[in-house]
Amino acid sequence: METLAALCKRRGFIFQSSEIYGGINGFWDYGPLGAELKRNVRGLWWREMTREREDVVGLDATIIMHPSIWKASGHLDTFADPMVDCKSCKSRWRADQIAEEQGKKIEIEITEDGKKHYKMPAGVKCPKCGSANFTEVRPFNLMFATHVGPIESDDNKAYLRPETAQAIFVQFKNVLDTSRQKVPFGICQIGKAFRNEVTPRNYTFRSREFEQMELQFFIRPDEAVELICGHVAQLTPDTDLSEPHADWGWEIWHKYWVEKRLAWYRSIGLPKASLVEYWQAKDELAHYARACVDIQFAFPFGIQELEGIAARSDYDLTQHHIHSGKSQEVFDDELKAAVAKLDDAARTAFADKVAADWQAAGKSPEAAHTFCAKLFDGRYIPHDIEPSAGVDRLVLALLSDAYCEEKIADDKGKEETRVVMRFNPKVAPIKLAIFPLLKNRPELVAKAREIYLSLRSRWNVFYDESGAIGRRYRRQDEIGTPFGVTVDFQTLEDNTVTWRDRDTMKQERVAISELATRLQNAETGKQ
Ligand code: GAP
Repeated sequence: METLAALCKRRGFIFQSSEIYGGINGFWDYGPLGAELKRNVRGLWWREMTREREDVVGLDATIIMHPSIWKASGHLDTFADPMVDCKSCKSRWRADQIAEEQGKKIEIEITEDGKKHYKMPAGVKCPKCGSANFTEVRPFNLMFATHVGPIESDDNKAYLRPETAQAIFVQFKNVLDTSRQKVPFGICQIGKAFRNEVTPRNYTFRSREFEQMELQFFIRPDEAVELICGHVAQLTPDTDLSEPHADWGWEIWHKYWVEKRLAWYRSIGLPKASLVEYWQAKDELAHYARACVDIQFAFPFGIQELEGIAARSDYDLTQHHIHSGKSQEVFDDELKAAVAKLDDAARTAFADKVAADWQAAGKSPEAAHTFCAKLFDGRYIPHDIEPSAGVDRLVLALLSDAYCEEKIADDKGKEETRVVMRFNPKVAPIKLAIFPLLKNRPELVAKAREIYLSLRSRWNVFYDESGAIGRRYRRQDEIGTPFGVTVDFQTLEDNTVTWRDRDTMKQERVAISELATRLQNAETGKQ
């Protein structure tokens, strides 16, 4: 990580925020190349998640929202990490992290109101001074607070959003009413989120300000699927996940999104072997989640979460339905039409079966009857599948996966180390570097500039005329530019250039008229 961080600083991918004032812990800035890399990541996600789908639309909401949202979502009461102070050296830690690093687990007791109480297991020592003399473990709310308007009082306290998701839930009805979508459909968003992490660590991996790419995909409750289709399809190893089907329940939708997201990570260059699909155990799940899969990546500091894909049931929309007093129910005409075909006895039998299922799952049978009465009227609160990814974590994964050192022989046969960032061309900050062989030959410079200007409106290309050509290649290798072209004297005669491939270092003559097609093919993976 140190080598990578040094390269990121040296070449302008990532800088410490506010560096000239000594930096600020947990905040990072992206330099010219990092900004391009990030833009590519966001663009690819946006294209995959909404532009290329008819059933997902986008949203761009504010960072500060009505504070009641965080009460309704549970963040105000429960979005906390267990914090502990060492009484000997006064250092502050995340209790769960230091316990885990020492092979122990902190004990968590959740009271009826959802609040967590923690206990540090015996034997855990302060990582700094070795003392076992800690304060009580206490929850530390991760939300950054601020005040809206000129008066600093509790009445105008507000929070920087700790996730982008809640904005999607609270705009659900507006989007539904304006976008001509019907359940199942999704709303996606990319934007900043803020968490006052107790111990930001591992470079940008755990930051206090970061960016999320989230989709909330709203689906029918399984009971509505059953009424419409007569059954709910079961997830088996043979389930065909290529195209959604009307009879899918939440389990298949959840698995569908896990597969989709894994395929996307592979499509932008992360090797299959470095991705792990981790299914959270029941006791690890957030209280609203029915299932959650973490897509993890083998970072240099260990295998860690890149994205979480949670089946959040109808928890969030129900919370906002209750707290805002505004209905979050949808009317489903297919459901209404399906129910119209059932006689009273069939409806009663259906409701009794649902009540029995709910009771077996520890839920109230009375609530099941109320829910079924709504279903019979064609109404329900949609359930939600949420793939939630971090832009910064993905950028870090791409950087660490791309970094490569190899031994090669220079022009004189002497061994040297070549540092190459093997980015997939889709994410590479610069797609093509254009070099005149000699900078003091105006005809070569003019031709190289002409190529550069003809390509730059479509791709991020880079013109470089300074230094020996070998050094210019190396500079581009180190920032991951997949291709380079050199304009030489032959170019002036036959309009061909030398095309150099970053990974193989092979060179070939290519017509200038072919460059755009080559770049396009590289981006679409055609090569
Ligand atoms: N809406 C669900 C949600 O926010 P999460 O697992 O807390 O779930 C989702 O966060 C993703 O956001 C994570 O998988 C990670 O990529 C990113 N993320 C969360 N906290 C982060 C942090 N402190 N620094 C960088 N990225 C973070």
